[in-house]
Amino acid sequence: EKGGYDYFMLKEIAEQPRAVADTLLGRVTADGMLALDELRLPAEELRDVRKIVVVACGTSFHAGLIAKHAIERWSGMPCEVELASEFRYRDPILTRDTLVIVISQSGETMDTLMALRHAREQHSKVLAICNVNGATIPREADAVLYTHAGPEIAVASTKAFLTQLVACYLVALYLAQVRGTMPDREIARTIGLLETVPAHISEVLDTVEPVRELARSLVGERCVLFLGRHVGYPVALEGALKLKELAYMHAEGFAAGELKHGPIALIEPGLPVVVIVPSAAEQPLLHGKIVSNIQEIRARGAKTIVIAEQGDISVVPYADSLIAVPAVPTLLQPLVTTVPLQVFACELATAKGHDVDQPRNLAKSVTVE
Ligand code: F6R
Repeated sequence: EKGGYDYFMLKEIAEQPRAVADTLLGRVTADGMLALDELRLPAEELRDVRKIVVVACGTSFHAGLIAKHAIERWSGMPCEVELASEFRYRDPILTRDTLVIVISQSGETMDTLMALRHAREQHSKVLAICNVNGATIPREADAVLYTHAGPEIAVASTKAFLTQLVACYLVALYLAQVRGTMPDREIARTIGLLETVPAHISEVLDTVEPVRELARSLVGERCVLFLGRHVGYPVALEGALKLKELAYMHAEGFAAGELKHGPIALIEPGLPVVVIVPSAAEQPLLHGKIVSNIQEIRARGAKTIVIAEQGDISVVPYADSLIAVPAVPTLLQPLVTTVPLQVFACELATAKGHDVDQPRNLAKSVTVE
């Protein structure tokens, strides 16, 4: 049942190219546009939406943080992202023209379900992005877009996360399509680029052995920090969450720009710091900023582990370890940069002798409050 792998998590990481491809399958028309009639949200209703609020927990929340960038860029609509456990206990300003997007792999997370009910009581439309067919959340939502990751057994979310990202991108592009905020040929071009992602993920998986070696070399460490900017920031949060839950290590993700506001005080000789670097060609400003962040922490003795685009030689002098990933547009980068971080956490935890499928104190679906 584990398909020859020692753990479900390893199998599920390996399944990601297929999972991403399946989530795109059947949703693209012959002329490269989107056909999402399955949403059951008529185009007129989507045209009336004025604000989007994304609500989720854990890894699904990280997908939401990335989705915000795509939604705002492509559909031109303001988008807020909030933890379900916070959202449900305050009085968020929701109206009939707010679209609430709830993201949940299991479709049973109690806080997310309660947030959905809260939103519907205020007459907002709720769209669920979910992996489990017929679960409570999709049943109660006004509209559903299923991710086609297939069953995710390991407690730590991997393939579900990547397919949530794809589903979010599809929603963002669909909003752009029905609202006319992006030229059709740009939409088709972006979908075409999304369709190349499974091959890029396969390439990352084929070249991931050095990441495993690196992870094994760090079993004695007590703490690992993760830094990113823009869409790299939620990827840093996700890398840290994986390491916490699987390897039981202190791990924290920061927005790299926040370093000087406090976290840089944590940097001491030998501290491993993972940095996610944006594309130099597409984001020259951000790229320059993060390269100086790497220099700052290295000057203080940090062991820098740099995830950067293939061919980005500017980071080579400052990287103690360099993990090169295929070049994709910035907004799609999390689909490739997350993969080595999953492998890193899984390998480090395994090297410590932990069962990565059943981390202590955690349940696959959190149906309690
Ligand atoms: C982390 C993880 C959890 C879940 C969270 C939400 O690897 O799996 O953080 O992402 O409990 O679960 P769902 O998406 O089922 O609502």
